[in-house]
Amino acid sequence: MKPELASAADLTKIRSLLRTCELPEIDLDLGHMGDFLVLRAGGSLVGCVGLERAGDAGLLRSLAVAHERRSAGLGDVLMRAIEARAVAAGVHRLFLLTTTAPNFFASRGYRPCSRVDAPDAIRALTEFTSICPASAACMSRSLDRSISRQEQFHRPSTST
Ligand SMILES: CC(C)(COP(=O)(O)OP(=O)(O)OC[C@H]1O[C@@H](n2cnc3c(N)ncnc32)[C@H](O)[C@@H]1OP(=O)(O)O)[C@@H](O)C(=O)NCCC(=O)NCCS
Repeated sequence: MKPELASAADLTKIRSLLRTCELPEIDLDLGHMGDFLVLRAGGSLVGCVGLERAGDAGLLRSLAVAHERRSAGLGDVLMRAIEARAVAAGVHRLFLLTTTAPNFFASRGYRPCSRVDAPDAIRALTEFTSICPASAACMSRSLDRSISRQEQFHRPSTST
């Protein structure tokens, strides 16, 4: 199972998965789909992750795996794939906010940071300004170009 770029038709399913996983989805719209990756299995969408870019910084958001598919490495696959996409887009540092999985990210190279460490353009995103609680942990990780060589998502072929 490999991450694919999300399509416009995935928006509703992504929002539904995020609700099931108790993650914010209210601000998501079609404009986000260009930087969202999804995992599909048996016709269902079983995982997703998103990137919001702000110059050479990025926000990793909405990492979710369906309950019945957890602990099979899919969260890790999605995280590495969005990191690779970020590097390919010229992002040098990723930030994230989480209330539910700081230890998951800590064991994968992310370190706690202060919200004020994030660039203004990241702090202006809705995750920071309104939809994540102030109690959410802010974490960050520097990316290096070796990550892009591990790029793990593919573009689905388009049929007309
Ligand atoms: C976090 C999440 C994406 C992990 O997905 P996954 O497919 O189970 O992850 P993986 O299989 O790659 O990794 C599983 C490992 O991470 C650990 N893990 C999973 N969720 C964790 C959490 N919330 N905190 C700490 N560790 C966690 C598991 O214990 C497991 O550890 P092990 O490999 O030592 O057994 C999934 O649990 C999820 O969707 N959670 C709800 C949404 C969320 O909290 N997202 C993150 C904030 S954006």
